[in-house]
This record gives sequence, structure tokens and C-alpha cells, in this order.
Amino acid sequence: MNILKLIQKRYTAKKYNADKAIPQDKIEALKEILRLSPSSINIQPWKFTFVQNHEIKAQLASVSMHNTEKINQAKLLVVFSVADDLDAFQKVVDNELPQARRDWYNQIKASKPEADLKKWFSNQVYIALGVGLTASVALGLDSTPMEGIETDKYRTILNMTTYKPLFAMAVGYGSEDDFNRIEITPKSRRLQENVIETI
Ligand SMILES: Cc1cc2nc3c(=O)[nH]c(=O)nc-3n(C[C@H](O)[C@H](O)[C@H](O)COP(=O)(O)O)c2cc1C
Repeated sequence: MNILKLIQKRYTAKKYNADKAIPQDKIEALKEILRLSPSSINIQPWKFTFVQNHEIKAQLASVSMHNTEKINQAKLLVVFSVADDLDAFQKVVDNELPQARRDWYNQIKASKPEADLKKWFSNQVYIALGVGLTASVALGLDSTPMEGIETDKYRTILNMTTYKPLFAMAVGYGSEDDFNRIEITPKSRRLQENVIETI
């Protein structure tokens, strides 16, 4: 299917088929696709936690506001986290990034207040969400982006110290009777003439 058709077809799943397993090769592909997400200066200040373990997923679901049921039904939950400890992340930069990027990052770090640097990190993680949503539909999977989660409780459950959860994405097969399926709830967007300017 071409990319426009895929994007027209993608929707936020509100109800999943809890019986249909995701082939593991699709999950492995999604891991690699997220790893390949682009980021400013290739800084990659993220961690993607793939939760397939039923008990841990249930614990996370219980601290996910109006998203509890979806997370329990969906076979996979991906938690998107951002680097939160700048000293720990400096080690990542020093050990894992090439010299030119390291120098560039060090300059940016020296020029920005810590809060701005962290905001810039978070912006990069949202790019990966866009990649993940598009990749899911391309893999024949349905998904739900979710900011409606209790991020501090996620952090505790996942035992995260140097990264901080920002949002999550449920992935699976949407239920046939999900009211939000594209056939039942057509896409709703602002008009192209109001959001696209061509010069
Ligand atoms: C960053 C982000 C956070 C979202 N958080 C939630 C959420 O917590 N729960 C939910 O059901 N939908 C959530 N949504 C889904 C949006 O409501 C949805 O993308 C929007 O209404 C457009 O509908 P569509 O995705 O079906 O095209 C979120 C979407 C984004 C991009």
C-alpha cells in the first residue's frame, strides 16, 4: 500500500483484540525502526522500553488514566523515555557518539540552561513517536499514542533512574467493534488550505 493510503488508514485504536498475538518479527522490526529514528545532531536522547510481559504491562495499565483497558488488551506497550540525568547522559555521548557530534553537543550544552536542554531532548523523543505510529500501520498493526499515563509511577515500576518516561504507545490488532476504526469514525482534520501554505 502506498504511504498516503497507509496514513489515511491509520487511526488511534481505542479497543484491541486481546486474543491476537503480534508476530515477534514485527516487534523486532519496530525496535530497529525506532532505533533508526532521526534526531537533531543525531543526539538520540531516548530509551524505548518494549513491554510484552503481561504482569508488568498490567501494572503500567493500572496507572494509565483513561488508557487502562487499551493497554491491558494490546499485546505490546512501548514506553518512550528521555534522558533525565545530564551527567549520566554525558557518558552516553562520550562513549557512543562520534567525536564531531560530541563536540557539537558539548557546545549546545554549554549554551543552554538545563531546562531548555531537557526540553530539546524531549522534542526529539516525539519524533520517534511519529516514526513508531507510521511504522506500526506499515507493519499491519494498530496503535495508540498515549500521553495519558502517570509518568512518575511508570518510572518507579520500570525502575528507571537516568531516563524518565514521557509517553507510551500501545500496539496490537484493533478490535472489529472499535468505534474509532476509520470505517466508523472518519478522519477529522483541519482543511489542507488552512494548514498548508504553498509559496
Ligand atoms: C502525543 C499524543 C498523545 C495522545 N494521547 C492519547 C491518550 O492518552 N489516549 C488516547 O486514547 N489517545 C491519545 N492520543 C490520540 C489523539 O487523540 C489522536 O491522535 C487524534 O485525535 C487524531 O486521531 P487519529 O490518531 O485517530 O487520526 C494522543 C495522540 C498524540 C499524538
